[in-house]
Amino acid sequence: MSARATVTAPTTIMVPGDAGAVSLGAEAVARELARECHRRELPHRIVRNGSRGLYWLEPLIEVVTDAGRIAYGPVRAADIPSLLDKGLLDAGLREGGQHALRLGDIEGHEWLRGQQRLTAARIGIVDPTDIDDYIAHGGYVGLSTAATMPAGDIVRAVTESGLRGRGGAAFPTGIKWQTVHDQTAAQKYIACNADEGDSGTFSDRMLMEGDPFALIEGMTIAGLAVGATQGFIYLRVEYPHAARALALALRVARERGYLGRNLRDSGRDFDITVRLGAGAYICGEETSMLESLEGRRGEVRVRPPLPAIKGLFGQPTVVNNVVTLATVPLILARGAAFYRDFGVGKSRGTIPLQLAGNVKRGGLVERAFGMTVNELVYDYGGGSATGRPVRAVQIGGPLGAYLPASQFDTPLEYEALAARDGLLGHGGVVVFDDSVDMARMARYALEFCAIESCGKCTPCRVGSTRGVELVDRILASSNGSRTGDIELLDELCDTMANGSLCGLGGLTPFPVRSALKHFRDDFLG
Ligand SMILES: Cc1cc2nc3c(=O)[nH]c(=O)nc-3n(C[C@H](O)[C@H](O)[C@H](O)COP(=O)(O)O)c2cc1C
Ligand code: SF4
Repeated sequence: MSARATVTAPTTIMVPGDAGAVSLGAEAVARELARECHRRELPHRIVRNGSRGLYWLEPLIEVVTDAGRIAYGPVRAADIPSLLDKGLLDAGLREGGQHALRLGDIEGHEWLRGQQRLTAARIGIVDPTDIDDYIAHGGYVGLSTAATMPAGDIVRAVTESGLRGRGGAAFPTGIKWQTVHDQTAAQKYIACNADEGDSGTFSDRMLMEGDPFALIEGMTIAGLAVGATQGFIYLRVEYPHAARALALALRVARERGYLGRNLRDSGRDFDITVRLGAGAYICGEETSMLESLEGRRGEVRVRPPLPAIKGLFGQPTVVNNVVTLATVPLILARGAAFYRDFGVGKSRGTIPLQLAGNVKRGGLVERAFGMTVNELVYDYGGGSATGRPVRAVQIGGPLGAYLPASQFDTPLEYEALAARDGLLGHGGVVVFDDSVDMARMARYALEFCAIESCGKCTPCRVGSTRGVELVDRILASSNGSRTGDIELLDELCDTMANGSLCGLGGLTPFPVRSALKHFRDDFLG
């Protein structure tokens, strides 16, 4: 008698439904797995989980066994018959099927072993459609705790945790919440920024697709803390998988009484609506986002007043990033001190870093603040995908500075990067090898700004276009006559940095100046 005949319970196989995994063939893998298991009459259950964030191994499937989850990857649909021939389901439960794609116990994988996953702890582990699975993995403990606390104490816990906004500006979350808490208004709002426009970033998407209840819980806690009864998720239109995951999770949360009127008998009301973004980078800037949420063109508002005082529809509004809000349940569940104990200096807690670009192993690395760029690029990333020397990384999206290899000893935390004229932003790190032309990258930064500018202020609207023309002129002129225009470009950066109304024009000088400073030869020809 075969081992299979003695097994009655269906074997659970996790096949990521994450957009990144899907783009690499996960749908076809799930279909072929289901088809082949039916044909072979193998009792099975396929769960579409989030990605573990080891993208070079996607689609990465896992067989749930008594001895942990045995992973295989990268799996193509054509691999399914041979995986089943080699005992994917039988041996997955016991000795472990032997196949060239077998990765073994995924928790023991070197990529995951050293990580400190707090915010991303459940991504890839839970079934994102199953609220009971979420609860079984620690979900809704934070909300239960918050529901017993006075609003001011919830705000205090977030302040004491040291949490700073993960959307880019790193503003202390507790201070923002306190401002909204202190306003008297008939209506207050929680607006979640899920526009995730930065190049090379995907942690918001992974969270919404792989652990959507964490965001819903975080927003609900924020609502209780500041006295808001309505939340909005401003989701970029390019994230249809996240939209589906959120729609389902919101419906389930409502059905189970975790959203809506008198949620979980707390005497408090809170609900959430998803709004799809307009597809412009500037709509990620918080005041543009509010304009867009109100149904207008995404154009930056002049501050003051701050959104915390006069935000959505003129009411006090908390604007926070997905990762920021999804971190809040853990802070309430484990306590401010627990979270604060991670990190260095004023960068408390952990940050889900996103490694992308020309790198051998790209994906999600959540660690306490303070790991160096070297560790991320080489220990996790394995160096460049091309095998050529790594020349630079850009940290913090299209407005982030380029760091040369000589500065890869920089710790990934807010203050250390600021000291090197850089920023951490949303935690995206994009790798470039030595074939990159940094003058072209500076031109690209200015061109990006010109294309994405909302047009409201002159230094950005006009400056970015003049900047592109200047770089073109520098590159077209003979070597000896370039220095004058390089100085002019630096002056233009000054004007943009000091005169722009928002971060798009104000931060574009970061990539341009870092390229000029560290890679001047590329401009000199
Ligand atoms: C041009 C520009 C684009 C931005 N894009 C995003 C974005 O896509 N997502 C995001 O969370 N924050 C983005 N921000 C930052 C937001 O303005 C705001 O600081 C953030 O949403 C606040 O949330 P946090 O405190 O949780 O970080 C952007 C800022 C600028 C200047
Ligand atoms: S800096 Fe650019 S994007 Fe920002 S307000 Fe000015 S024109 Fe608009």
